[in-house]
Amino acid sequence: MALPRFAFFRGSVVPYSEARVGVMTHALNYGTAVFAGIRAYWNPDEAELFVFRPADHFRRFLESARLLDMTLPYTAEDLTDALTALLRAELHREDCYARPLAFYGDESIGVRLHNLTPEVSIIAVPYGSYLDNDESIHATFSSWRRVDDTMIPPRGKIAGAYVNSAFAKTDAQRAGFDEAIVLNQDGHVSEGSAANVFIVKNGAAITPPVTDNVLEGITQRTVIELLRDRLGIPVLQRSIDRSEVTLADEAFFCGTGVQIAGVTRVDHRPIGTGRMGPVVTALRRLYFDVVRGRVPEYRPWCHPVYADATALSERREKSRQTS
Ligand SMILES: Cc1ncc(COP(=O)(O)O)c(C=O)c1O
Repeated sequence: MALPRFAFFRGSVVPYSEARVGVMTHALNYGTAVFAGIRAYWNPDEAELFVFRPADHFRRFLESARLLDMTLPYTAEDLTDALTALLRAELHREDCYARPLAFYGDESIGVRLHNLTPEVSIIAVPYGSYLDNDESIHATFSSWRRVDDTMIPPRGKIAGAYVNSAFAKTDAQRAGFDEAIVLNQDGHVSEGSAANVFIVKNGAAITPPVTDNVLEGITQRTVIELLRDRLGIPVLQRSIDRSEVTLADEAFFCGTGVQIAGVTRVDHRPIGTGRMGPVVTALRRLYFDVVRGRVPEYRPWCHPVYADATALSERREKSRQTS
């Protein structure tokens, strides 16, 4: 993956080579950082890059930071502006992935969350699919359990907790599967390694509630709304037993990275027909239209990167001509 050209770092957009930290950095040693993952979608018809639901992502980012006792000098709007400025500097005309990070930057020894100074960075890189195959995923139930709220708060995107996700993902892939389904301490379905899970049974969609140690996904929220309001599929948020996945008609992962990915086999057993079903197929089609700003009703979720800049430069040009 090519490195970004710029980074938002210490309050401004700087060359990426200037966004550096030392090896003693607290977050690097103890995982004391929180992050977000935000996609921006290129719409060639409008020659526009749309960031998907940045305000919602940054609100969750600020909440994750609060969980780690960080007080950041930014609002969700400030961070959206910073990301927009960064993307305008990068000038991407393709799908991108942005990574905001808030981390304890102190270069000191000692595990704690207090008396430390948080810093914020954002980078953005061109990015296509997260999974090689997102229509027929073969998943496995991981032997790793999802972090519990009594261990590391799962509703925050806390960097250190992603070692749990990394174990689940690597072990699944080394065993020949595409992805892991991770159960919580009670044995209920929690998540994928970095994605929320849905099953579809008898015409209704079911996804675990936040109390089953899931990260409250922005995509999960998006999907619930699209299923209910556009596809007429009722959605239940309740605990899911492992064997319900095996007996589901359809199953899928959703998240900013994976987007909507159909799960068609789990532990060598087919889900439903063993091929991506009608609900997941329709949902994927709708989702990709929504994120590229092609569905007027959901256009407010899509934050244009260049539109304002063009308007601004046109205004500047006009005032230059009239002065
Ligand atoms: C552990 C975990 N669960 C769920 C998700 C999905 O969240 P979102 O849809 O907000 O990207 C993510 C991130 O993408 C994640 O890291």
